Amino acid sequence: MIQTLAIIKPDGVKRGLIGDVIKRIEEHGLRIVAMRMMLLSKERAEFFYAAHRGRKFYDSLTSFMCSGPCLAMVLMGENAIGRWRELMGETDCTQAAEGTIRRDFATDIQKNVVHGSDSEAAAIFEISCFFNRFEISA
Ligand code: CMP
Repeated sequence: MIQTLAIIKPDGVKRGLIGDVIKRIEEHGLRIVAMRMMLLSKERAEFFYAAHRGRKFYDSLTSFMCSGPCLAMVLMGENAIGRWRELMGETDCTQAAEGTIRRDFATDIQKNVVHGSDSEAAAIFEISCFFNRFEISA
């Protein structure tokens, strides 16, 4: 059983997409084992996205991520990382497959509604940014 971090980004929360996203997660058989809504500070957003430091979109991405509350979740299940990424679709919504969250809801490459860890190492780091072990009901 693998865990991954899922975030409903500020655009998704503001647009009232929490229910739609959670419905897809549960229908897909992934288990939500932790959940927290929070308003990130710029410092925390920069720490979380440190892997992208130096990219031209880093400043605007980290400002966007603290422009409103986001909903962080830990998802658990067999191949949870890959299955959640499949549900989300490609980062760029114009490239995302039909039926994916980003294809259905994202408005551009940055405001793409959801985030998911891209590897086991990233999942461990990212989960630790939002939850301690006692907050995960696995
Ligand atoms: P996410 O899956 O959270 O990982 C990094 C985020 O950076 C990505 O989703 C997008 O929100 C954002 N991003 C990636 N590429 C670009 C880009 N070319 N321009 C603006 N934002 C981007």
